[in-house]
Amino acid sequence: MRFGIRTLDDFDVRGKTVLCRIDINQPVDRATGKLKSTNRIRACVPTVRELSEKGARTVLMAHQGSDIEYKNYYTTKPHAAVLSEYLGFEVKWIEDVCGPLARQAVKDLKDGEVLLLDNVRFMAEEQTLFETKLCLTHEEQARTQVVSKLAPLGDLYVCDAFAAAHRDQPTLCGFEQLLPSAMGRLFEKEYCTVSSLMEEPQRPCVFVLGGAKISDAFLMMRTVLSKGSADKVLTGGLVANIFLASQGVGIGSGSMDFIMKSNYGGFIDVARELYAQYGDRIVLPSDLAWVDGGERVEGRLGAIPEEISAVDIGSRTASVYREEILAAKTVFVNGPAGVFEQEPSELGTREIWQALADTDAFTVLGGGDSITATEKYGLMDRIGYVCTGGGALIRFLSGEELPVVKALRHGATIGE
Ligand code: 3PG
Repeated sequence: MRFGIRTLDDFDVRGKTVLCRIDINQPVDRATGKLKSTNRIRACVPTVRELSEKGARTVLMAHQGSDIEYKNYYTTKPHAAVLSEYLGFEVKWIEDVCGPLARQAVKDLKDGEVLLLDNVRFMAEEQTLFETKLCLTHEEQARTQVVSKLAPLGDLYVCDAFAAAHRDQPTLCGFEQLLPSAMGRLFEKEYCTVSSLMEEPQRPCVFVLGGAKISDAFLMMRTVLSKGSADKVLTGGLVANIFLASQGVGIGSGSMDFIMKSNYGGFIDVARELYAQYGDRIVLPSDLAWVDGGERVEGRLGAIPEEISAVDIGSRTASVYREEILAAKTVFVNGPAGVFEQEPSELGTREIWQALADTDAFTVLGGGDSITATEKYGLMDRIGYVCTGGGALIRFLSGEELPVVKALRHGATIGE
């Protein structure tokens, strides 16, 4: 037991059916549905291998979203193939979450075998994201289809999804109401490491918030600014564009259309309000980049052509951010500064990441895209701590109890 949560050391899993929630949500190519990275799949290997080697019948539950938040969901079939490769044995996969096919596949499992169910977010009830205010209590989550159909087949629930520990959803918080529960090895490592890190962050403490998960980024920004954890927040990506728009700065009609089409228009008001309150600690870009005829073009604010779509921060901004990062003692990063996957729009992210490698500050980085960028620039060994969680990490840093941690503590009282 650590932090009031049981670990795998507390259970003999041989011959037991273990329902294990993992987070293998990876960046996905929207056009092809192909995984752009597999780092989170690799990260959950120790737990799955341990369960299998100890003779458990392991049922894996996971979600896979897309790179534009909660609009698209993809099958977990490719993940089973990747996981099989990492483990060196077959991970079975079934095109069902908790229906008769899935339940039969669970019952058919033999000791040591592993089954991955299809994307749990294909179930509407799993989409009880706190952002959409469709909140269910943990007791209500225990009565959902997914939990009430699968829990009777399981002996133990294991959560290894630290990266999703900020989500209050049935496969994350419902099973703990019914089954003895434990955290998996990855969850244990991430939770314990980050807890000890956060006891006394050294100041100045700088947050770099970018990426495309806008609701996450705004929620986190408000929290770290209002609680005082952030001395400065450097903005990049879509987050920065929304802030600039909120200040009436021209960011190009393409950028504005994207914000509006993605239903992020409401965040412009949120950004205005945040900037009015914390403007002295929120750093906005002074220049932006866009692509014209395949080439990168940059412009200062006030001189951005009307028709462009901004895809990166400009090089002046990148230099300012570099200086901030070099002067900091602690830096937390969540989300890239632009579309770093493509050469003309990668400069901002590349420069920030190089600064993370060069600074003496303790650097903590989290989230799928951030890890992908770290791998791309070959900097995995030069970051202080790389966490699979993005939103979960920042929410945790805000000092709030994560819903999954609360549920696992409850699960520690079951079957005693
Ligand atoms: C993440 O990518 O941060 C986690 O997998 C949670 O995903 P979500 O933001 O789609 O809930």
